[in-house]
Amino acid sequence: MKVLGISGSPTRNSNTDALIEAILAATGAETDFIKLSEINVGPCIACMKCVYTNECVLNDHFRWLSGKVTEADAIVIGSPTYYGAASAFTKAFIERLYSKRHVKLLTARKIAATVAVGVAAEKMVVQWLENALRAGGMEIVGSMTAKGTPCCFVCGPGGSCNYTVWNAYSKELTGMDLGVEKAYKDYLEILPDNKPYAHGSARILKNYRSVKDEPVVMAEAQRIGKLIRDRIENLK
Ligand SMILES: Cc1cc2nc3c(=O)[nH]c(=O)nc-3n(C[C@H](O)[C@H](O)[C@H](O)COP(=O)(O)O)c2cc1C
Repeated sequence: MKVLGISGSPTRNSNTDALIEAILAATGAETDFIKLSEINVGPCIACMKCVYTNECVLNDHFRWLSGKVTEADAIVIGSPTYYGAASAFTKAFIERLYSKRHVKLLTARKIAATVAVGVAAEKMVVQWLENALRAGGMEIVGSMTAKGTPCCFVCGPGGSCNYTVWNAYSKELTGMDLGVEKAYKDYLEILPDNKPYAHGSARILKNYRSVKDEPVVMAEAQRIGKLIRDRIENLK
C-alpha cells in the first residue's frame, strides 16, 4: 500500500505540510512526501500531445512525479490559499494531471484526500481540489481545511500595519462568514483608526499559528489518514 503526499506550499515546514504529513502517518502505509516548490513542475501548455499517448511531453520533473502518481494507491494533496485560489505550484501540478486523462483514465479509482490552509478562502480551494481530482476519476475519501499563519504575521517590518487585508475578509464587506474574526481574535488587534478599504490598521499580537497546536485539527488529519487506510484495505 503506497500513499503519496504532495504539498503546494512553498513555505518550509508549513501548516499545509504538517497536515499532509499527519494524514500520511495515520495511514500506516509506505508513504512519500513531495514538496512541489523543491522540484520543477510547470503548467500545462495545452499542446494536446498527451491525448494520443497518455503522457506529457514537457521535459520537467512531472515525468518522474507522474510515475509516482501512477504507482500510488492513494494521493493526498494540499495547498495554501493564495488570492482565493490554490498556489501556482498546486495549480501547475493539477493541470499536468490532464495527461493522465486520455486514451486511458490512469487515475481512475485512485483514493484521494485534499487539504487547504488559509486565512479566509481555504474552503473554496479544497472544493476546487476535490473537483479537479474527481475529474480524474479519483475517489475523495476526506478533505479538510485549517486556518494558518497569515503572511502579515511573519512579514517582519513592524508590529502594526495600515494595509492589512482583514477588512476585506470581514462579514461587513463580504456578507459571508469566512471565520476570520473568530480564528484570529487573539492574534490581531484592530486599531481605532481602522477604516475598511481606506486604512486597514491593525496590530499583530502573535506571529505564528501552527496547526500542531490545535488538537481538533490534528485529529481530523489522523481521521482522514485512517479513512484512506480502511478504504484501500476494503478495495483489496
Ligand atoms: C501571495 C499570497 C497570497 C495570499 N492570499 C490569500 C488569500 O487570498 N486568502 C487567504 O485566506 N490567505 C491568503 N494568503 C495567506 C496564506 O494562505 C496563509 O499564509 C497560509 O497559512 C499559508 O499556508 P502554509 O503556511 O501552509 O503555506 C496568501 C499568502 C500569499 C503568500
